[in-house]
Amino acid sequence: MFDDVAPKYDVVNDVLSMGQTRRWRKIVVDAMEVSKGHRVLDLAAGTGTSSEPYADAGIDVIACDFSLGMLKVGKRRRPDINFVAGDATNLPFADNTFDASTISFGLRNVNEPRKALAEMLRVTKPGGRLVIAEFSQPVVPLWRTMYTEYLMRALPAIAVKVASNPDAYVYLAESIRAWPDQDHLAAWLQESGWESVTYRNLTGGIVAVHRASKPVDTAPDSAAAAIAAHKGPVAKLRRNIVR
Ligand SMILES: C[S@@+](CC[C@H](N)C(=O)[O-])C[C@H]1O[C@@H](n2cnc3c(N)ncnc32)[C@H](O)[C@@H]1O
Repeated sequence: MFDDVAPKYDVVNDVLSMGQTRRWRKIVVDAMEVSKGHRVLDLAAGTGTSSEPYADAGIDVIACDFSLGMLKVGKRRRPDINFVAGDATNLPFADNTFDASTISFGLRNVNEPRKALAEMLRVTKPGGRLVIAEFSQPVVPLWRTMYTEYLMRALPAIAVKVASNPDAYVYLAESIRAWPDQDHLAAWLQESGWESVTYRNLTGGIVAVHRASKPVDTAPDSAAAAIAAHKGPVAKLRRNIVR
């Protein structure tokens, strides 16, 4: 599905969110609190729009996704970003690789989201941060009703006019409605081993940004063991780099 929507993905996003995505993305980047010298994983990065601010700031960002269609559009647009093909539930990275990990509007699309949370924990360094941006539940009932009307009626109608694959946007609306609310996702994070879990509602809860940290006192760095077990995740990573 994402291979199909890739060519117009970013334009359609801007239209359907009425330009809100730019503001949401800035808040996510600020929440990451990363700077030059840090290595960042942007998981389910798609065309790399969510990775761009890190690359622009000179931060070493890996944009990982399993849709080659999305990755190719991204690589064409931003050849300077490292795009890596990988499945969120079985990441091609060694333990404790990244100073911080993030996933924007992607966790909801992963078949086994809790497995992805565990994988992000594994590849993030002890003490490292996780930031998730995902559609969520508006908190005020009237706003929730208006938003649900927009999602189920207006959004698919607009998508027919602007998108190459309107069915994908029916899926978008349905997947947002089926997705757990803010507290539920926070509980998943805690159960996956993340600590200091907090969240912030954006646009009245249409989007929530969850933040968490990897505990410092986890098992000692097991990167060497992972290399031995998998004949070297670095070699595996090289195979997946999108050129
Ligand atoms: C809505 S896009 C988000 C792209 C980008 N993060 C953004 O903010 O624009 C969701 C992405 O999740 C990716 N995705 C879904 N399941 C995945 C998985 N198991 N592993 C890696 N990527 C996945 C899709 O291929 C798609 O590119």
